[in-house]
Amino acid sequence: MAAHGLIGGELSLTEAVIRAFEDTGDERLKTLMAALVRHAHAFVREVNLSERELETALDFLVGIGQATNDSHNEAVLAADVLGISTLVSLRCNPAAQGQTAAALLGPFWRAEAPLCEAGENIARAPIDAAPLFVAGRVVDPAGQPIAGAVVDVWQASPHGLYENQDAAQPDMNLRGKFITDEAGRYRFHTVRPRGYPVPTHGPVGDLLARQRRHPYRPAHLHFMLSCEGRKTLITQIFADDAEYLDSDVVFGATQNTVGQLIHHPAEGGLPARYTLDYDFVLQPGTRTFPKPPIK
Ligand code: BEZ
Ligand code: FE
Repeated sequence: MAAHGLIGGELSLTEAVIRAFEDTGDERLKTLMAALVRHAHAFVREVNLSERELETALDFLVGIGQATNDSHNEAVLAADVLGISTLVSLRCNPAAQGQTAAALLGPFWRAEAPLCEAGENIARAPIDAAPLFVAGRVVDPAGQPIAGAVVDVWQASPHGLYENQDAAQPDMNLRGKFITDEAGRYRFHTVRPRGYPVPTHGPVGDLLARQRRHPYRPAHLHFMLSCEGRKTLITQIFADDAEYLDSDVVFGATQNTVGQLIHHPAEGGLPARYTLDYDFVLQPGTRTFPKPPIK
C-alpha cells in the first residue's frame, strides 16, 4: 500500500484516505471510492456528526443487512426511499430520442416469471378486483414495430402484496412474460392494480415513520422490455387516477410514466372492467438484465 504519511489533523485526513486508495487496480473503483470519501467526509463536517449519530448510522446499515433475505431486499428499498434509485434510473436512461421513460426496478422483480401466450391472464387465482386488459405495441424511435421483444410484467395484488410476500397467492401470481408479434403487439389480462405500502417492518420503515412520511406507492404495473440490439427498458406505468401519484414514497412516478386506465361499465352480463393501451419505445443498445433483488 502506498504510504500516505502521518495524519496532521482533520483536514489532511481526507487527502490521506484518498491517497491510500492510489494503488487500486480498477480505475473506476478508485474514482468511486475517492469521491465517496470526499463527499462522506464533507457530510460529517457539514452536519458535525456526533459519535452517537455515527453509531446510529452504522446500526441502520447493519439493520438493512439483517432485514434482507431471499424474498425481501431492504437495501434496494433504502436506495428507493432516498430517491437514489430514481436518480440513477433517470440519468442512465435519458428519454432523449423519444424512448419511453424509465422508472426504478424496485425490490420485487423475479427473473423467472413464466412465459405466457398472448392474451393470457396473469391473475393465476380468483381475485376480487376489477379486470384490466392491457395491450399495446413495442416500437423503435421511428415507430417501426419490434417483433420478438420480451414484455415482462409484474404487479402487486389488490391487497398490496407481491406474490412472494403473500402465502395466500400462487407462485408467480401477477407475473408473466409475453413476446411481441410481427406488428410489435403485446396483450394480456390482469386485474386493476391498487396503491400499496412498501414494506415497513425493517429499518427503512422506522426511518419513514420518524420522517412522518406515508409509505404508499400509487397504483402501477411494472414492465421490463428487452430484445437483442435494444437497450433494456425497465419502467412502471401508473394509473392516471391513482392516489399518491404526487407523493410516491420512492419517487418513481414521473410525468412521463402515467397511463390512461379507461373504465368500461358493466354490460351484457360482463362486470365493469378497465383497459390500458400503452406503447413502448425502445432505443438501440445492448440487452442487459439487472441482478434480481429477490429469488
Ligand atoms: C415496487 O414498486 O415494487 C417497489 C418499489 C420500490 C420500493 C418498494 C416497492
Ligand atoms: Fe410495485
